Amino acid sequence: MKRSKIKDLLNSESTGHQVCVKGWVRTFRNSQFIAINDGSTINTIQAVATLDKFDSALIKRITTGAAIGVTGQLIESLGKGQKVEILAEEIVIYGDCDPEKYPLQPKKHSLEFLREISHLRFRTSTFGAVFRIRNAASFAIHKFFNDRGFVYIHSPIITGSDAEGAGEMFRVTTLDMDNVPKTVDGKVDVKKDFFAKETNLTVSGQLEAELGALALSDVYTFGPTFRAENSNTSRHLAEFWMIEPEVAFSDLTDNMNLAEDMLKYIIGYTLNHCKDDLEFLEQRLLDEEKSKPQNERSEMALLEKLKFCLDNDFVRLTYTEAIQILMNSKPNKKKKFQFVIEEWGADLQSEHERYLVETHFKKPVILTDYPASIKAFYMRMNEDGKTVGAMDILFPGIGEIVGGSVREERLNVLIEKMEAMDIPLEEMSWFLDTRRFGTCPHAGFGLGFERMILFLTGMGNIRDVIPFPRTPGNAGF
Ligand code: 4AD
Ligand code: MG
Repeated sequence: MKRSKIKDLLNSESTGHQVCVKGWVRTFRNSQFIAINDGSTINTIQAVATLDKFDSALIKRITTGAAIGVTGQLIESLGKGQKVEILAEEIVIYGDCDPEKYPLQPKKHSLEFLREISHLRFRTSTFGAVFRIRNAASFAIHKFFNDRGFVYIHSPIITGSDAEGAGEMFRVTTLDMDNVPKTVDGKVDVKKDFFAKETNLTVSGQLEAELGALALSDVYTFGPTFRAENSNTSRHLAEFWMIEPEVAFSDLTDNMNLAEDMLKYIIGYTLNHCKDDLEFLEQRLLDEEKSKPQNERSEMALLEKLKFCLDNDFVRLTYTEAIQILMNSKPNKKKKFQFVIEEWGADLQSEHERYLVETHFKKPVILTDYPASIKAFYMRMNEDGKTVGAMDILFPGIGEIVGGSVREERLNVLIEKMEAMDIPLEEMSWFLDTRRFGTCPHAGFGLGFERMILFLTGMGNIRDVIPFPRTPGNAGF
C-alpha cells in the first residue's frame, strides 16, 4: 500500500479508508497507543494496536525511536487532542531501537546535550520545527527573488580574493602539510599548490554577484560562506549561509526598500506556512522563560513579535544620528556599556545595536551612512568625503541581520581607496574591469541566513538553527 504522509492524514476530512504510514515511534503508551512522527509535521498520529491482534514479541519491539510502518483504517479519534487515528491491522518494524541505549528519551533534553548528538536531534520536536522553518524560509527567499525577475547566480566557494578585506579566511590547499614546498626565500611555494596560487574559502559572493549584476541587472546568490574569525558567540558561525542580492542602477533607498520587503516577505511566508511549528516554538519559549525573572522575559511572544515586524515600518536613520542617541543614552553616560562611545567614528558594538533596537526604538532599525574608516573598501564614498553609502539592518534580539551598501562604481575613487587599504590591484583587476567597461551605479546587501532563522524560530543560539554547526574547535559530523 502507498505510504501517506502524516501531515496529509491529519488534515484530511474523510475517514473510514485504509491508510499506511511510516515513521519513527515517539512514544508507546499502555502497550497500545503508538505516537508516530514522520517529519512532515510537528504532530504525531496515533495508531491503536489492540493487544489481541499482535504477537507480544512484535509489541516489545515498538519502542521510542524505532522505525515502523502501520497499515490500518483511518478512523475518527475517540481520545482528545487529535481528530483522527489509525486502527492498526499490520505493523512492520523497519529498524529496532534499543531503549536502553537510545540517547533520546521521551522527555525534555537540554539544547546543549542535543548539540552533542546533532546526528539524532532532527528527531526531536524542536529541531523538526526549526529545520522545517529553515526550509520554508529558504524557499521563500528563492520565490521572492524569482517573482521579481532576479537571476540566481552561483558564486564560487573556492576563491583567490578576499571580498571583505578582513583577512579572516580558511586556506584551501593540497600541499603536504608535513613537507611544504618552499621558495628560495623560505616562503610557501604556492606555484606548486593545486591552483598554482593561494586560495581560500569564500567569505562572501558579493564581488562575483557584482560582475553578474553589471550584465543581468538583478541577481542574487544564496550559498555557504566561511569566516575564520575566532568569535565564540551565539551569533557567529565559521560556516554560515548568506543571501546576497546585487542590483544595477539602484541607490541606497532602493537597497533599503528591497531588504525591508525581502525580510517582511520571509516573515509573512513563514507565518503562513509554518503555523504549527511556530506555535510549538512559541510555547517552548514561554515554558523556558517561566524560570526567568520577569524583567528578563521577552515583551512579546514569538508570533506577536513576527507580526509586529511585518506590520511596522523599519526605522531609518544615519550612523551620525545614532551616535547622538547613543552618546546621550543612560548606559553611555553612566558608563554601563562595555565600550563607552566617546566620539563620532566609533565602531558600533552589539551592545549599542541592541540598545537602539530593543530599548530606544523597539523596532527593527536601518542604519545608514557609516564612517568610511570602519567599512569595507567597496562601499561608495558620499559627497561629504567622510561617510559611505552603507546600510546595516538591526533586529531585536539579533543585532545586525543585514549588511549592505551602494558600491563604489567610479574607477579612480575605487583605486584610490584600494591603494589606501593595501588591497592588491593586479589580483583584483577582473573586479576593476567592471568599472573600466560600462560601469554603473549599483547596490546590494547580504542577509545572514542563520540570523534570520534565529529570529523566526526564537532560538537563542545560532548553533541550533543549522544542522551541523562549525565553530572554533567544533566540526563534528
Ligand atoms: O556584514 P557582512 O560581513 O557583509 C558582507 O559580507 C557583504 N559582502 C554583504 C553584501 O553587501 N553583499 O555579512 C552580511 C551578514 C551580516 O549582516 C550577518 O547577518 C551575517 O552576514 N554574518 C554572519 N552570520 C553568522 N556567522 C558569522 N560569522 C557571520 N558574519 C556575518
Ligand atoms: Mg556587517
